[in-house]
Amino acid sequence: MKVLSVVSEIYPLVKTGGLADVAGALPAALAHHGVETRTLVPGYPAVLSKLDAAETVHSFDHLFGEPARLLSATVAGLDLFILDAPHLFVRPGGPYTDSNRQDWDDNDRRFAALGLAGADIGRGLLADFVPDIVHAHDWQAGLAPAFIALAGGGPKTVMTIHNLAFQGTFPPDRFAGLGLPGEAFATDGVEFYGNVSFLKAGLYYADRITTVSPTYAMEIQTDGDGMGLGGLLRSRTADVSGILNGIDDGLWNPATDPLIASTYDVDNLDRRAANKAALQARFGLEPDPDMPLFGVVSRFSWQKGLDLLTDALPRLVDAGGQAVILGAGDHGMEAAFAHAAVSHTGRVAVHFAYDEGLAHLIQAGSDAILVPSRFEPCGLTQLCALRYGAIPVVARVGGLADTVIDANAVARAAGVATGIQFAPVTQDALDAALFRTLDLWRDRPAWRRMQENGMRTDVGWDHSAAEYVALFRSLAVQKEGSSG
Ligand code: ADP
Ligand code: GLC
Repeated sequence: MKVLSVVSEIYPLVKTGGLADVAGALPAALAHHGVETRTLVPGYPAVLSKLDAAETVHSFDHLFGEPARLLSATVAGLDLFILDAPHLFVRPGGPYTDSNRQDWDDNDRRFAALGLAGADIGRGLLADFVPDIVHAHDWQAGLAPAFIALAGGGPKTVMTIHNLAFQGTFPPDRFAGLGLPGEAFATDGVEFYGNVSFLKAGLYYADRITTVSPTYAMEIQTDGDGMGLGGLLRSRTADVSGILNGIDDGLWNPATDPLIASTYDVDNLDRRAANKAALQARFGLEPDPDMPLFGVVSRFSWQKGLDLLTDALPRLVDAGGQAVILGAGDHGMEAAFAHAAVSHTGRVAVHFAYDEGLAHLIQAGSDAILVPSRFEPCGLTQLCALRYGAIPVVARVGGLADTVIDANAVARAAGVATGIQFAPVTQDALDAALFRTLDLWRDRPAWRRMQENGMRTDVGWDHSAAEYVALFRSLAVQKEGSSG
């Protein structure tokens, strides 16, 4: 079976969040199940610069204003098609924003081009690779299922929601420039409260819809958490499912990780202590092994709930804790964390950057990893924490609810707890969770048991890849049935 994955970022070439991790790791996991994946990505400078040898497999005379090419290349073990359209993708800044973090004004055309190229490949543009399934990720790929359905046929399509908050919404006057037939600007189409929504397009036209955890799949079908799309998703409930993300457990392996100070595994947990010491030293924190050290690795946005942590830090410090915060984003949050670091030297440290090496050291050296998200489709940092023997302290939402076993009395009696969950996502509940964590820290045998449980949890891709394969195969069978 052949799958074309259409996505706007992919690790290790270009990444702004977990979407890239998933796009980068899923193909190898699917390959174990006999599925061949090619991934279509935009030709940003960050992608083009990593191509050693690329073959031109198609030339477009005209793609949204200018000529463009489809390249084929294998980079870092990933089989890629690259949409080389310099007028759309070769510019400074990030995949979606300019150097001032403002959205590019032509994001509608940039990602309509991605969707159109994906649909064309899906419909047989390249004789060497005709996919059975087109798998579109998030709004940037949302027009791929739309172009396929509106062209009257092609492969089966799956739309995966990694984050319902990002919908790719554009004013109605942009519709005419997208190359879609006029009838698509309708409630039964790409129109969304008078605008054009790329995500809605994908959700409306795709054969199946998945998201990245079972709990988030339920949450997004409610009016409260559906972000305006709850009704549409409810109307398609039989086609909606949740498949948990995994992490690349080769890249994230404390037994072999070159980015940490001391490697360890579940049978040699004592060797983990050197990582905490290294982390404390690197950040000028008091070098005390008995002070519980809380780590954060995150984008700073409303979603992540970290504004609640800025308020809680003084109480955490008073109770004997330390915190290391790695992340970037919202300027107000950066300022609040910077202030906390100055007020609590030796106890609170911050680093505002995207830094992969540091992310690994924080996972290996922190006692607990905090993820107080207001919503979280899946979340990957709590999975890394489990694998690295850091106790995840998480909000009971989305994929966080599905991947962490709260240390309640029943779970502890059964010896299966792996972390702490709290709800609702309020200041009081976060404070209470931090104090529960500190209580558990004092019970070292219980703490160690949780670490061991977490490290023995399977957080890799194999199980979830099998679920994707089952979904893809069921769709391919339907297609054979309908065409034969
Ligand atoms: P989201 O995609 O919503 O940002 P996830 O938890 O799914 O959240 O994925 C975030 C990914 O980005 C993880 O791989 C995490 O380790 C990484 N990450 C986030 N912030 C940073 C940072 N400041 N430095 C390094 N890695 C980061
Ligand atoms: C999104 C979500 C995150 C998820 C990631 C990968 O960015 O915010 O929860 O883990 O996508 O699916």
